[in-house]
Amino acid sequence: MILKLFPKRPILLLAVSLLLPALAPAQSPTLVNGYEPKWWKEAVVYQVYPRSFQDSNGDGIGDLPGITSRLDYLQKLGINVIWLSPHYDSPNADNGYDIRDYRKVMAEFGTMADFDRLLAGIKQRHMRLIIDLVVNHTSDEHHWFAESRTAKDNPYRDYYIWREGKPNPAAPNGFDPPNNYPSFFSGSAWQFDPATKQFYLHLFAVKQPDLNWDNPKVREDVFSLMRFWLDKGVDGFRMDVIPLISKQPGLPDLTPEQMKNPSALWANGPHRDEYLQQMNREALSPYDTMTVGEAIGIDLAKEPNIIDDRRHELNMVFNFDAVRLNRDGRMWKDFTLPEIKAVYSAHAAALDKHSWDTVFLSNHDNPRLVSSFGDTSTNEFRIRSAKLIETMLLTLRGTPFIYQGDELGMTNYPFKTIEDFDDIEAKNAWKADVLTGKITAEAYLANLRRTGRDNSRTPMQWTNGPNCGFTAGAKAWLQPNPNCETINAAEETANHDSVYSYTQRAIALRHAHQALVYGDYTDLDPTHPQIYAYTRTLGNERFLIVLNYSSNPTTYTVPGGLKAGKLLLGNLPVLLKEENVGNLKLRPWESRIYTY
Ligand code: NOJ
Ligand code: CA
Repeated sequence: MILKLFPKRPILLLAVSLLLPALAPAQSPTLVNGYEPKWWKEAVVYQVYPRSFQDSNGDGIGDLPGITSRLDYLQKLGINVIWLSPHYDSPNADNGYDIRDYRKVMAEFGTMADFDRLLAGIKQRHMRLIIDLVVNHTSDEHHWFAESRTAKDNPYRDYYIWREGKPNPAAPNGFDPPNNYPSFFSGSAWQFDPATKQFYLHLFAVKQPDLNWDNPKVREDVFSLMRFWLDKGVDGFRMDVIPLISKQPGLPDLTPEQMKNPSALWANGPHRDEYLQQMNREALSPYDTMTVGEAIGIDLAKEPNIIDDRRHELNMVFNFDAVRLNRDGRMWKDFTLPEIKAVYSAHAAALDKHSWDTVFLSNHDNPRLVSSFGDTSTNEFRIRSAKLIETMLLTLRGTPFIYQGDELGMTNYPFKTIEDFDDIEAKNAWKADVLTGKITAEAYLANLRRTGRDNSRTPMQWTNGPNCGFTAGAKAWLQPNPNCETINAAEETANHDSVYSYTQRAIALRHAHQALVYGDYTDLDPTHPQIYAYTRTLGNERFLIVLNYSSNPTTYTVPGGLKAGKLLLGNLPVLLKEENVGNLKLRPWESRIYTY
């Protein structure tokens, strides 16, 4: 018997599972289509960006009690796991991705008691919680760094990466940085520190010094903080830029070629796998966890090195091939449907039964799902295309991740000037590129409107009231999108035809059929420019998914003489039910899930 993790009758199955440890014979699990069944493979994950989810005390900043107050909304959507972006004490140079104290809750978000209440509320609803583990770097206000910078012989000196600069009388402070690494957030990745006249490495902001994972004490301290949260009952971690923890020996200069994609080099230090295996052994293995790493700098071909379940490192990674199809470096570029299909086919080919995938097209570092991958030219097309993309995310192969608000079809924000932005990446690049005349302000802003991270960080749109129901205070930390007048949760939860209600049905369908989780994936028509047609198959369970990924209607003949059988879910009202046919008349952005 395969234990369904997210049962329709939780009480009965809870009783069964409580008995299980005593009853279960020690044997290897029954494979499903060659895969070892796991709760995190069957889960639909929902990402909460706490700052922007729900404010509960009127200060304009989302907080933990706010999230707790919205757990019913998430449970009704049908998601199983919440990924909480950083909730730790932080001076917020990068909205919490710069941690000052790993064992403390950010004061603006509440207290540890609020965290415990949130976790209890999640568990009560049979959901799980994973938290963000940001351990490539800390805040410069973390006490380890405060100590480290005081003296070369401080016991914490080697917690970070300090190097001598290259003497240059013409340079500020008399030194050039130790090497030519650029920071992800513009400028050099090295910062001179006057106290000891050395530089420290920060691949991100100046206030995010990189930890030195080659120091065993750093690893011990990280594993200990992981155990602290696991002992509280969290179910795992999303690991921020985790492949960067092992640096290149000697930190040599990047060549001009490597400079085009520095993260690829930074990510493949020689000890990466050793450290992750140690983490797995010493911190994770005693618990039943889910881990998902941000696969910065790792090619698909090399992914199995980090996620193959026989290697005992991570369960899954986020690979950026799909989400960044629309990018050339920092610049927006148009993409085609066959390019998207090629990514998913490549994944199916590269990852075998030991390597589980993720499916996502948005998060807090990317613009809104429907603005980037759908069609916002009319409200009707926005709704249809948002539903079509949810159909795709929830029927592809891998654990799906939904970013907050995308289940409502929220869109990018109509940013006007650089002052409308909060994001350190956007602001630093403005200083580095616009203020120095490398790019015009107009060109920079036009690109930022399409690619900027703040698009996804505007507050959740709960109602059509003041501040979209996000805060009862006068002002939200980031301006809410004025289109909450029409796009908001209050309207959508009450409306059977909304993006929310449709997403709810698509999630339920995924949960009801193992073929949508463990089934094989076949792209029926990889080069078709307008139609994405694929099957998910597991024994007798056979699904055909047909997406008209375009604003034009069309008649489509399913290849190979295959017939669309029973219609299980569609994103448009059915006019004339097309079943048991090989020809389908599809309206713009129409999506259908059939048996076949
Ligand atoms: C990736 C995170 O997702 C992003 O938001 C952050 O700025 C960087 N890592 C640095 O922590
Ligand atoms: Ca608040």
